[in-house]
Amino acid sequence: MKIFCGRSNPELAREICGYLGTELGKCIIHKFKNDNTFVRIEENVRGKDVFVIQTSAFPVNDLFMELLIMVDALKHASASRITAVLPYYPYARSDKKDQPRISITARLVADLLETAGVDRMLTMNLHSEQIQGFFRIPVDQLLASPILCNYFAESGLSDFIIVAPDAGSAKRAEKYALALGLPMAILDKRRDQLNDTVEIFHIIGDVRGKNAIVFDDEIATGGSMIETAHALLEHGARDLYAGAVHAVLCGDAPRILQQSPYKQVVVTNTLPVDGEKKISKLKILSVAQLFGEAITRIHEGKSVSELFRKHL
Ligand code: R5P
Repeated sequence: MKIFCGRSNPELAREICGYLGTELGKCIIHKFKNDNTFVRIEENVRGKDVFVIQTSAFPVNDLFMELLIMVDALKHASASRITAVLPYYPYARSDKKDQPRISITARLVADLLETAGVDRMLTMNLHSEQIQGFFRIPVDQLLASPILCNYFAESGLSDFIIVAPDAGSAKRAEKYALALGLPMAILDKRRDQLNDTVEIFHIIGDVRGKNAIVFDDEIATGGSMIETAHALLEHGARDLYAGAVHAVLCGDAPRILQQSPYKQVVVTNTLPVDGEKKISKLKILSVAQLFGEAITRIHEGKSVSELFRKHL
């Protein structure tokens, strides 16, 4: 087995290698003056089971192209099997044709990965489950829920309620609620697609006098979390906590989260959280061990779903 990574989240890749007790594979990646990306694999990979770790960090398009070029280089270097490890899947929100004349880009991403020569895909918490169906190769989707639930359970939870910030996240939130043995509420959120802004209309469930944990798959602009917080406080909720898998945190999100009514915002390291993004309200939980274990199981042909028996 060989593990390689692109330039999106080398820290996570190193942590995964630490768990596996192996070194990161050596490769050279640089850009020519004409903006073309150059990749050279610096080790023999002939006949090897290769895993390439590349998450969808900024700049999204550049890093995705880098992954495709790495896969192509590995294919031509005779790797026997290539697994693309995408902790945060690119263009996951573009997963349907819900407006005229738009692209289903998450499907295009799947096609591009397969064309480049990827044999399997390993990812975490897809925005929607049906993205797995965009692939004709095997897809393993890891869930961060055991990690997030353990964290909240260890903090002690009395008078808590789990909140789904929109109808789309209700199924996911239900799993968190079941795992933690807590009631849940659902918000009726609408998004203005052109302006990327959100508005909350109704709350289904009684949040009055309760402490709330809002679970979402990702925090991008932070708009959903902030509008959710305001709606919950208006309906009499007490202390607020946020939990999300992917800390996209674009634009002003870190600042507005820091100034928000949330006591803590718990995320994972599927994306790098550094510099100005690292606000004091943020608690970052590592998914490295889970990815390391999944990589071991894939390599040894063992079940991956066994890792989530209580969370499926
Ligand atoms: C939406 O469907 C997702 O589940 C998240 O709620 C959304 O991606 C969060 O985006 P933002 O932080 O920009 O509101």
